[in-house]
Amino acid sequence: MTIRSSFGRKILLAGASLLLTTSMAFAEEQPKPKGEAGSSPYEFRRDHDPNGIGKFYLGREIARVMGFGNSGEGALWLERETREKEEKVSLLVKSLKLEPGMIVADIGSGSGVISVLLAEHVLPNGKVMAVDIQQEMLDRLKRNCEKLKIDNVVPVKGAEKTPNLKPESVDLIVMVDVYHEFEHPREMLLAMSKSLKEGGRIAFVEYRREDPTVPIKLVHKMSEAQVRKEAEQPEFGLEWVETIGVLPRQHVVVFKKAKK
Ligand SMILES: C[S@@+](CC[C@H](N)C(=O)[O-])C[C@H]1O[C@@H](n2cnc3c(N)ncnc32)[C@H](O)[C@@H]1O
Repeated sequence: MTIRSSFGRKILLAGASLLLTTSMAFAEEQPKPKGEAGSSPYEFRRDHDPNGIGKFYLGREIARVMGFGNSGEGALWLERETREKEEKVSLLVKSLKLEPGMIVADIGSGSGVISVLLAEHVLPNGKVMAVDIQQEMLDRLKRNCEKLKIDNVVPVKGAEKTPNLKPESVDLIVMVDVYHEFEHPREMLLAMSKSLKEGGRIAFVEYRREDPTVPIKLVHKMSEAQVRKEAEQPEFGLEWVETIGVLPRQHVVVFKKAKK
């Protein structure tokens, strides 16, 4: 399977800015912003990677969110024709063991490249909740789905600390190149875990930080160990299931919601 042709677009500069590795700088801690002082799990550093936001969670710097762009450059980069060759997104979707009738949440859906691929694998009766915090991305996703006559993708406007999904309503959460951008990863993980059904899975698809040949900026990569360190904090109730290593650039680290 290939990415559908109407998603074929040229690579633009905004997206290309994600490429090329940079180094991370370290320095002293800044005062914590109001409301996050005291028990905050976050730390703030003045000197940091220019592609990060200077906010650290369990030793990892959080990356800047990839914007839609003034002329949609960000979305066009996500939809680039070369993506299937570079990232094998169709193989990614196959590796997720989807079944008809499943409710899948594509969190950080962007313009819907992954949502569209997921959608056909959960038919009949299944649907994809496509969650993003950028309205422009969701508007474009809606238009893309209309063009492709896909009616089982539901756009959901998320917020920075919650995907706004119903509790225990989702069989599988998928985040493709997204989690490292969450400004509030702890709050998002708590809320995502609540939205999972018991036994439901959550898949982190992240560029492999262990591999220096993966041509992506450092703060946009995560090691398997770091993903596990963050997701296995006891408060989330998540258990590691497997790490799928079939993709050329990313690993897929999968957890399930443990029984109460
Ligand atoms: C690099 S894009 C990936 C898009 C899509 N997953 C794909 O692979 O085509 C990251 C997306 O995550 C979204 N995002 C960042 N923080 C988010 C949050 N807290 N909740 C939902 N989406 C978020 C951004 O708006 C952006 O569209």
